[in-house]
Amino acid sequence: MEKKRILIVDDEENMCSALSDVLEEEGFFVSTAIDREEALRLISNIEFDLLILDIRLKGTDGIKLLSEVKEINPHIKVIIMTGYPSLDSAIEGTRLGITDYLLKPISMESLKASIQNALNQREKEKEKLELSKRLEEAEKKILKLEETLSQATKLASLGKIGPAMFHEVKNILSIMNISTYYLKRNIETNDPKIKKHLEIIEKEIEHSHQIIMGLLNLSRKEEKTIPCDINQLLEEAVSLMSHELELKGIKVIKDYAGDIPVVFLEPNEIKQVFVNLILNAEDAMPKGGELRIITGKDDNCIYIKFSDTGCGIKKKDLEKIFTPFFTTKKEAGGMGLGLVVSKEIVEKYGGSISVESEENKGATFTIKFSLPQNKQVREVVKQDGKEDKDFNR
Ligand SMILES: Nc1ncnc2c1ncn2[C@@H]1O[C@H](COP(=O)(O)OP(=O)(O)OP(=O)(O)O)[C@@H](O)[C@H]1O
Ligand SMILES: [Mg+2]
Repeated sequence: MEKKRILIVDDEENMCSALSDVLEEEGFFVSTAIDREEALRLISNIEFDLLILDIRLKGTDGIKLLSEVKEINPHIKVIIMTGYPSLDSAIEGTRLGITDYLLKPISMESLKASIQNALNQREKEKEKLELSKRLEEAEKKILKLEETLSQATKLASLGKIGPAMFHEVKNILSIMNISTYYLKRNIETNDPKIKKHLEIIEKEIEHSHQIIMGLLNLSRKEEKTIPCDINQLLEEAVSLMSHELELKGIKVIKDYAGDIPVVFLEPNEIKQVFVNLILNAEDAMPKGGELRIITGKDDNCIYIKFSDTGCGIKKKDLEKIFTPFFTTKKEAGGMGLGLVVSKEIVEKYGGSISVESEENKGATFTIKFSLPQNKQVREVVKQDGKEDKDFNR
């Protein structure tokens, strides 16, 4: 273990020398000073753990010296020893955080016990300081991770990001997890705040992990058309975005019809569409609001509606929003591709996407798949050996 550093300040040279010999034998690194100047020079150059201070120094008030010392090294522990005790110096010393006030003549036993107690306190404080620093670091990392993920969600929704990126982020998360585990095991403080923050970190790491897994699934294109339960796919898309939606104060109201027929789709592609529409609704409601997601079936189609209470779309922009690179969010990094890609996907499966909106009142995007769904799509599924008995129930 590292040697603890002690500084003795006493204007009696003999006292310094005697104490120093005894404490060095006890295994401490000891320095001595007989006046203020020497004491301050040493304090500025060496990181002492403990100061043993006589408050009656020639030409200097020991308490004044103590406040100067604390300014240079606020974490140093201090034991006052004096032959001239006074209430004032005891009160002032306590205010400056001394751990003991010993009266001369001092017994070695009580001095040793006092030193041990002060050094134990110092050790605990050091640990706590170290832990707080590491926790701060971890929190910063998590914030950065959240930023990256929100950007990644956007990119993934446009099919522009590969699984390699997610594996990288997953590695970072694992490292953070290990560090937090270390912190938790080595924590020797009763500070409930530190424990609470550690728990927050762990929870957030788990959350980020879930988001990444969702993104991984989203970016994995299997290009396989299968009968899909639209309500279930909506659930998956919403749960992927739920953290962001909650943070932004957006309430999601799900109004799903119970018995809509399956639709033949590649599930990850259609989830991309849902995520795009949810992201747009989020952007339209920076101060929070409501997003209603409705599914249903009428005579010849099934429909999915995303209805928000956001800023809405200007009349003159309504016809432009499905054209490539049209965006009103350039500063925020909007690319003007979300709706183009979504439209392309929906139309590939014989569906349509339309919008109704009034400025400042919100927007409603409606996706429709006509029934019976595109015959070609059904044929592809049949060739894959899948049954379509649920279709068009
Ligand atoms: N729910 C909505 N409320 C208000 N405006 C919307 C909504 N959805 C889309 N828009 C408008 O349509 C434009 C085009 O949307 P689109 O999703 O294609 O691109 P973007 O969101 O700007 O960028 P990104 O390519 O990152 O998605 C948006 O910039 C916005 O002006
Ligand atoms: Mg968009």
